[in-house]
Amino acid sequence: MGHRAVLCGCGAMAKGWLRALTRSNILRENVEIVGLVDLDKTSAEALATEFGLRGILIGTDLPTVLRDSGANLLFDIVVPPARHGVVATGLAYGCHVLSEKPMAATLDEARDLRRLAAEAKRVHAIVQNRRFISGVRRIRHIIQSGDLGELTALHCDFFLGPHFGGFREQMDNVLLLDMAIHTFDAARFMSGKEPLAVYCHEYNPQGSWYRHGAAANAIFEFSDNVAFTYRGSWCAQGANTSWESAWRITGSKGTLLWDGGEGFEANVVTGREGFMRAVEPIAVPDAVDDACTNGHASAIERFIDAIDTGNVPETDGSDNIKSLAMVFGAIDSARVGKRVSISA
Ligand SMILES: NC(=O)c1ccc[n+]([C@@H]2O[C@H](COP(=O)([O-])OP(=O)(O)OC[C@H]3O[C@@H](n4cnc5c(N)ncnc54)[C@H](O)[C@@H]3O)[C@@H](O)[C@H]2O)c1
Repeated sequence: MGHRAVLCGCGAMAKGWLRALTRSNILRENVEIVGLVDLDKTSAEALATEFGLRGILIGTDLPTVLRDSGANLLFDIVVPPARHGVVATGLAYGCHVLSEKPMAATLDEARDLRRLAAEAKRVHAIVQNRRFISGVRRIRHIIQSGDLGELTALHCDFFLGPHFGGFREQMDNVLLLDMAIHTFDAARFMSGKEPLAVYCHEYNPQGSWYRHGAAANAIFEFSDNVAFTYRGSWCAQGANTSWESAWRITGSKGTLLWDGGEGFEANVVTGREGFMRAVEPIAVPDAVDDACTNGHASAIERFIDAIDTGNVPETDGSDNIKSLAMVFGAIDSARVGKRVSISA
């Protein structure tokens, strides 16, 4: 057992992390949970009981638990406003830190955490788990293969109506900051392009049960003349899309449709004449690396591998901040009613 981890923030998502840590052979063998921290001690105690974590430190004060447990890893699963303080504390105590998304509650806080991680010479990465799924990996692969020609655009629809309760129904920019970060990150990852600018209309529709920003429509300019459009709502009931969104991806030779689940359809032009040229279906190959398709477990495994090998993890803060910059670019654009440049 090489690594000793303290997990901070023992709410709903912490269970997903502990399930991932339990189910992955690599993580079971290499990571030991040595402490749980939550402002509400009963939440931490209940989590320890549920997952059979005995003989560990449980507390409400993160510095105390980090110091007394001798942890070298901090798993940060707190709510976004608490993130900066928690990550900064972990780094100050010499820990490598893996955070839940979003990386920070503001872009300035994210930049500050990058600085602190660099100064501490510790790995600081984000669980951007929705890029560690088969469909996203398959699309990235087919785009890179050139089968669709030069990539020209990605379009996606995200329409769901979940009733979470809790912090989401009270926060600002709920769709963009809490959910669209996944979709924007997926678009950036699948395309391999840099986000340059965005125009966004964000609003809270009639009947929304959220306080702010449950819907957004955004047009992004990516590098190499690629467009990415996003239409999303978290208070649209009646015809749900997948949590991964429904996608239409166009290239100079053809189009790929993905329903966000198992449904793929890809066609490329084969005809040379006529008003509408003839097209033929092409295969969308399976994901090349199964180890990258297990959501949270894959993201945590990558983090551990980075610490052990010195490689930079795929969702390192230095990369993930670009997805966060897309979110805050969209939020800024909606606020000023204008296209804005994106800068991480
Ligand atoms: N990756 C995903 O798919 C996914 C899904 C759900 C939630 N999340 C993210 O996980 C994070 C937590 O979400 P959740 O649904 O578990 O929220 P939650 O409210 O259920 O749990 C958060 C916990 O953090 C604790 N907490 C808050 N501030 C703290 C502090 N300073 N120190 C210690 N504990 C503190 C709270 O008491 C609470 O128990 C959020 O960033 C959220 O966006 C990610």
